[in-house]
Amino acid sequence: MDKIFDIKEFEKLAQKKFSEEIMAFFSGGAGDEITLNGNISDFDRIKLLPRVLKNVEDRSLSTTILNQQIDFPLLIAPMAFQRLAHPEGEIATAKAAEANNIIMVTSTLSTCSFEEIKVTTTSSPWLQLYIYKDREITKNLVQLAESCGCQGIVLTVDTPLYGKRIKELHHPMVLPSDFEIKNLEIAGLNLKEIPLRKLPGHLASLLDPAIGWKDIDWLRSITSLPIILKGIINPKDMHIAIEHHIEAIVISNHGGRQLDTTLSAIEALRLARSSSDTNIEIILDGGIRKGIDILKALALGAKAVMIGRPILWGLAVGGEEGVKAVLTILKAEFDLAMALCGYTSVNQINEEILFFSH
Ligand SMILES: Cc1cc2nc3c(=O)[nH]c(=O)nc-3n(C[C@H](O)[C@H](O)[C@H](O)COP(=O)(O)O)c2cc1C
Repeated sequence: MDKIFDIKEFEKLAQKKFSEEIMAFFSGGAGDEITLNGNISDFDRIKLLPRVLKNVEDRSLSTTILNQQIDFPLLIAPMAFQRLAHPEGEIATAKAAEANNIIMVTSTLSTCSFEEIKVTTTSSPWLQLYIYKDREITKNLVQLAESCGCQGIVLTVDTPLYGKRIKELHHPMVLPSDFEIKNLEIAGLNLKEIPLRKLPGHLASLLDPAIGWKDIDWLRSITSLPIILKGIINPKDMHIAIEHHIEAIVISNHGGRQLDTTLSAIEALRLARSSSDTNIEIILDGGIRKGIDILKALALGAKAVMIGRPILWGLAVGGEEGVKAVLTILKAEFDLAMALCGYTSVNQINEEILFFSH
């Protein structure tokens, strides 16, 4: 892996390891994949105006998110079924997150349990939550996360229904026979009778399409953990989140997997920032493939970024070491970009280095 120098190379290597079904699930997006591609290309449309002669010899990448110290302004996005990428699945990802002192957000559809993660690492993941029609199971999941030391609940709000993903329709996923959706099962969901080929569709059918802001208040009433809303694109929703005293939001279009032709993640961040000077903490997620992308997100006001698919590529190529290698590349690229723009610490980064030609 020391011969791999950027994330694109990880992507190429990982793709060789995936079946068409896994490839469709991991890499695909909704509709014509315009949002999926725009998430990536819109970063490159923003040009940099670096500052010079700033003495950048001593630098620090450390920051905080919701008062938790992290060594690098990056979180690992929640992604379902990580054992499809590597037998160790979420445990390998959690170990790599721990080694870098960053936060991993564990999907509701994790294939390893919180308990397993807890006994193999000392880090405290955040739980990504879907609200299910069955509120008892949803509540049990939150309590399970709390009892295992999770430090935040990331409620995904852009998935009242599952997006139309053409590649997945052509190549439907059949989960391996030893697959378990462990936390959900511990929370009381009985999946034993569901044939594996029907499981992904069954899980999607349990999502509650009726969720609304009243459910945010319900969630608040059952947990004292900070609540982070993931999947905000429209600034109007950001403002309602602020009225509901939400601790942080993730500006995200689910990596282009839900509704095609939405604004790209970085454009949505720019719009959100121009519509308000609120100091709610914002995490940006979608399309980050380079350290320069992280710098641009922070310059537009994000407190940190979250990355998805590159983690799966690292996991597929080398398990825990593969995820570590992906994080090392992004960290070194971000450090270099920060220094070459004249900054020595994360909180100095601001919009003066950005130039928009459109
Ligand atoms: C294979 C896969 C599974 C995902 N599963 C979940 C999930 O269970 N919950 C969720 O909130 N987001 C899920 N996401 C979305 C990611 O959390 C994140 O928003 C997205 O991947 C970010 O875009 P990026 O892949 O371009 O970094 C998933 C994404 C992928 C690629």
